[in-house]
Amino acid sequence: MKSKKELIRETIEIHKNRYLSKPDYISIAPGRINIIGEHTDYNYGLAMPAAIDRYICVTVSTNNNRVLSVYSKTLDESFSDSDTDLESKTWSRYVLGCIHEMNSAYNISAGMDIAINSTLEMGKGISSSAALEISIVNALSQLFNLRLSDDEIIEICQQVDHRHVGINSGKLDFSASLLSKDALILSLDFLNNSHSYIKSNLEGCDWVLVDSGIRRELVGSKYLERVEESQEAWSFIGDASTLKEKIKNIETKDICSLKDSNKMLYNRLYHVITENTRVKKMESALTLNQPKEAGSILTDSHLSLRDFYEVSCHEIDYIIEISKDLDYWYGGRIMGGGFGGSIICLLKSGAVQNYSDDIKCIYKKKFGYSLDIDSVLFTNGAEVLDNISAE
Ligand code: GLA
Repeated sequence: MKSKKELIRETIEIHKNRYLSKPDYISIAPGRINIIGEHTDYNYGLAMPAAIDRYICVTVSTNNNRVLSVYSKTLDESFSDSDTDLESKTWSRYVLGCIHEMNSAYNISAGMDIAINSTLEMGKGISSSAALEISIVNALSQLFNLRLSDDEIIEICQQVDHRHVGINSGKLDFSASLLSKDALILSLDFLNNSHSYIKSNLEGCDWVLVDSGIRRELVGSKYLERVEESQEAWSFIGDASTLKEKIKNIETKDICSLKDSNKMLYNRLYHVITENTRVKKMESALTLNQPKEAGSILTDSHLSLRDFYEVSCHEIDYIIEISKDLDYWYGGRIMGGGFGGSIICLLKSGAVQNYSDDIKCIYKKKFGYSLDIDSVLFTNGAEVLDNISAE
């Protein structure tokens, strides 16, 4: 895989060759893993993600012909704002959505040349679309000297998802891509809209991503259904004026009445409340160097996502089941929006190859999909460089 530096250099070259000018800014945003805290972002909860060493790189410059030209090296496709056949290029929604939202808030109309390049694979559940949105918004913020705050950038990206892409996502992915710090884990609190950083003291283990090969599209999936179910469930707990105060110290015993009246909504909140507890427990496990405890928290989270939040799929449940028997596997769970994508696992150091040998073949035989297994490093969040510092 290309390094971050190589990706930046390559994207600058693409920009120069295509638009015959140097880019004004180079914006780079990472994908993310999420250690724990799944489906908690739009549920006023907690999460612990980290940016990983796979990136989207976007170069931008203004032009004098008042046309927007966008080229994606990753897809080898391009579009301009005068094109009429954009329906088939779904990725254009993300780019145009960012430009539209920023234009209506800050009036940034100008001709622009944009090139996009990536080492972040799509569909794996590691937030390639969030990284694309963050890198575009960050780039335009610099290009038009808007000095947007982190909160404003995250808010714009979320609006793009809601209004232009059709996913009612929370802020997890954008926050991870923007706010992460090298070698640290981000700790997000969506009730208080705050964040801090955790240093993991885990020794002798690796964080590993297993791509199930099941491609998930959140648009049109049951993700939206889960968001709506959660909103309905919370409406039984409190109204807009009291809810946040009630959620602060909520425990599973406080939602007992929902268990008899609506078991499904009870299950959704049960997951959220217990997941928040797991996030807190994970912080101790990481700081106290307790890999076994960290692994079992991950696996408990998986069971909750499978049985209470119902966002798993049988292929991923199967990987978790067969992994449980492997002595170097501390634990793991489905990660991200669900219904496919990737699993995050904690393994004893140096066991990635064994793990790969042990499960790839069984999985392929049973489901016909290839597994992709890789360890990941935690890295810095998004940044923007001018063309001099990028050289
Ligand atoms: C997707 C969404 C996030 C979050 C996760 C589940 O990645 O984009 O906002 O809800 O699913 O934790």
